Amino acid sequence: MGLNLAQKIIKNHLVSGEMVAGSEISIKIDQTLTQDSTGTMAYLQFEAIGIPRVKTKKSVAYIDHNTLQAGFENADDHKYIQTVTSKHGVYFSKPGNGICHQVQLERFGVPGMTLLGSDSHTPTGGGIGMLAIGAGGLDVAVAMGGGPYYLTMPKVCKVELKGQLNPWSTAKDIILEVLRVMSVKGGVGKVVEYAGEGIKTLTVPERATITNMGAELGATTSIFPSDDVTLKFLKAQGREQDWVELLPDADAVYEEHIVIDLSTIEPMAAKPHSPDNVEKISSIGKIKVDQVAIGSCTNSSYMDMMKVAAILKGKTINPNVSLVIAPGSKQVLTMLAQNGALADMVAAGARILESACGPCIGMGQAPCSDAVSLRTFNRNFEGRSGTTSAKVYLVSPEVAAASALTGVLTDPRELGEAPKIEMPKEFVINDNLVIEPAPEGSNVEVVRGPNIKPFPLNKALSDKVEGKALIKVGDNITTDHIMPSNAKLLPFRSNVPYLAEFCLTPCDPEFPERAKANGGGFIIGGSNYGQGSSREHAALAPLQLGIKGVIAKSFARIHMANLINSGIIPMTFENEADYDTIDMNDELVIGNAIEQVKNADTIVVKNLTKNTQFNVKVTLSDRQVQMILAGGLLNYTKVNNG
Ligand code: F3S
Repeated sequence: MGLNLAQKIIKNHLVSGEMVAGSEISIKIDQTLTQDSTGTMAYLQFEAIGIPRVKTKKSVAYIDHNTLQAGFENADDHKYIQTVTSKHGVYFSKPGNGICHQVQLERFGVPGMTLLGSDSHTPTGGGIGMLAIGAGGLDVAVAMGGGPYYLTMPKVCKVELKGQLNPWSTAKDIILEVLRVMSVKGGVGKVVEYAGEGIKTLTVPERATITNMGAELGATTSIFPSDDVTLKFLKAQGREQDWVELLPDADAVYEEHIVIDLSTIEPMAAKPHSPDNVEKISSIGKIKVDQVAIGSCTNSSYMDMMKVAAILKGKTINPNVSLVIAPGSKQVLTMLAQNGALADMVAAGARILESACGPCIGMGQAPCSDAVSLRTFNRNFEGRSGTTSAKVYLVSPEVAAASALTGVLTDPRELGEAPKIEMPKEFVINDNLVIEPAPEGSNVEVVRGPNIKPFPLNKALSDKVEGKALIKVGDNITTDHIMPSNAKLLPFRSNVPYLAEFCLTPCDPEFPERAKANGGGFIIGGSNYGQGSSREHAALAPLQLGIKGVIAKSFARIHMANLINSGIIPMTFENEADYDTIDMNDELVIGNAIEQVKNADTIVVKNLTKNTQFNVKVTLSDRQVQMILAGGLLNYTKVNNG
């Protein structure tokens, strides 16, 4: 039986598990990327593993998210990331060099390789034929340390593109059509693999627009083959040597099959407030537009920008529209400056922003109240723009530029002939904002501003786990209760000791002090403990306070996994009535803990204060048992890859 693209790459990188959809597998990671908002924590975690140099083929740290510097915090993060990456063998892409996914595609991506990035739009790399997956910072830290990445073997959905796009219809419209068909949940547990004659008509940056927004399908990732089009792109980037052909077998099997006829695709928009709320521009009508924002990792390539410049050339934007444009990388910006396209944009009234995420992450350019904002970005959730009452429409650069001129949502076909922009034979290459790591990391001093604090690291499980029941909470405690997140605490995401001072304080303001005074202990929880978000800090803050185990009636799945990653034992009462027998400050002991965790799914806990004992269940996979014994995922990685 033939293999599809995803299966071929997975097979080449398989470390454990069977390639059967739905079962757990682990794969070797070739490349990693981080951006600054998740990167600081990822490098603190990598440091905690204690491995001197990264073990990937190439790891890159980008600064593209928090480039505004109102206070010292962002600048401190940047300095820390620059020095810690130099020490440990990671390339550093300075602020100004561009948005991580755009630059990764231009300068680092290699077809057939695996890429793990601490950003949800890492699948952009699928445009060049990589298996590119977004993950948490901890997973990326482990991958940099040489540990495999664990995932559920995905189903593979073939999206067959037939025919060719008409003028003014774009790659953005293709992915909007896929979103309309599959919905924002339609890709969960799947890789979306593009095939068919139509893909030959799409350049790598166009393919990358499609794989980028595959994240909005909830897909594990999306991927295109590596073919002549890919070779042409890599040649133009001076990286011909990185090309390998990668095609699915002729008899490849797919779990799902969708056919899209490109010739039927019209200019479209995702209406507020969901990327799958898609409708043709022609049927939405001419709504008044207040703001147009062009850029982001979805649509900021050279080709995108050149089309925008061609539409704006010699014209003036509507007086009621604010137009901002952020070219995706230094390479793109340089080329626009050299060929005069930048001047055309500026002359038309566009405001040029730094090559960074900018308004996409709400860094400046929040629209006015009740505004209609057209954005070439990938997400239009309520409030993401920074203005809750704004209505954000996701559109192609062509629709955005046309609408900026008219002041109303405009079908670009009304402008007449579409500009013809050729892919350059050679891109301008100047990597002087990519800093290579020091050849000898041991001499590099890592600079830590006041906001950079070491990551808490657990110890290997001791044979006697003992401590007080430090807090007893009821049912449905959320990760927001465990680790509150608000605008005041957000800048401290790299400062776990500070955050821990707020752990579980919505339930009991005295808890952090009590935990510290007792040198740690146990948390007693009700049903569905840890529900809500996947917030890693909801496990890190208890770890910082010395929590050794959580005994609850039941756990939310992701929080339980995060506890295990931190080496905190999640235990459920065998008999829920035992919850009532425990009071705060009772002394609890698990004797013979190593053997008990290794051998049994039932563990005996003694309550010394009440002179009673009760059974708890521990449901762990073999790998999770090893993680608990080692004292968490980072220690486990150290033991297995150090
Ligand atoms: Fe940046 Fe927005 Fe992409 S925040 S990485 S441009 S989704």
